[in-house]
Amino acid sequence: METILRVEDLEKEGILDRISFEMARGEMLAVMGPSGSGKSTLLYNTAGLDQPTGGRVWLRDTLVTGLSEDEKAKLRLHRMGFVFQQMNMMPRLTILDNILLPAIQANRRRGRDRRTKAELMRTAIGLMQKLSISGLEERSITQVSGGQLQRACICRSMMNAPEILFADEPTGALNRSAAKEVMRELIRVNREGTAVLLVTHDSGVASQCDRILYLLDGRIRGELTMEQDEKAQASALTDKQREDKVNDWLSGLGW
Ligand SMILES: Nc1ncnc2c1ncn2[C@@H]1O[C@H](COP(=O)(O)OP(=O)(O)O)[C@@H](O)[C@H]1O
Ligand SMILES: [Mg+2]
Repeated sequence: METILRVEDLEKEGILDRISFEMARGEMLAVMGPSGSGKSTLLYNTAGLDQPTGGRVWLRDTLVTGLSEDEKAKLRLHRMGFVFQQMNMMPRLTILDNILLPAIQANRRRGRDRRTKAELMRTAIGLMQKLSISGLEERSITQVSGGQLQRACICRSMMNAPEILFADEPTGALNRSAAKEVMRELIRVNREGTAVLLVTHDSGVASQCDRILYLLDGRIRGELTMEQDEKAQASALTDKQREDKVNDWLSGLGW
């Protein structure tokens, strides 16, 4: 299996203690663990949003931890997508303009092979259709529901066709049905080929992933692989059974 992300002995002084793991191409990996265990720190340091005090991170052949801040910004813009609980939408822009923003920023850096405005619009509109938020293009971010807004964030994160999506508690601020919709879309994004590294508190959400890491005090204390074919439509386990499996595993870890 091709490796897309490799994290080796990642350290953040006093928070992360030599964390190592890999992600396969197309994998959806959940990170669980109690509040304060270092999940967000792990995600930020892996994605080059923060400066680790030790260790190395590769995105395919690129040594992320060896890049300058400017190179990391460029890498994040072109090859990574981000979806956070606090959605960081621009309040003065419409939903559509928010979604277009990273693509316009990427275009500025592209020069010769920049995409036309029409192309960007087509991509944005297509993503909005796919995520069932068509018709909200001209709304302001206060005129849509939390679930719709988070789906717009997923659209925004996918504009530059990233290789990997980092999601930190993307369903954390949503009610159950909105959380379900957002999860369904993250799974769809993953099935279409984007690796997803997802931090979550929710065992139901984690049970939809391929694999789960359990973090405690900045260390990986457990790992659970969900069977591959369970991801297929003809699921061997029901959603309830998957969730029970994760909950049993978590109880064993003292969750
Ligand atoms: N910028 C920071 N400076 C110092 N300590 C931090 C910083 N960010 C987080 N921490 C601490 O690191 C630990 C892990 O935090 P965090 O990664 O946010 O945990 P989680 O996402 O699992 O809740 C916590 O004890 C937190 O207080
Ligand atoms: Mg966190």
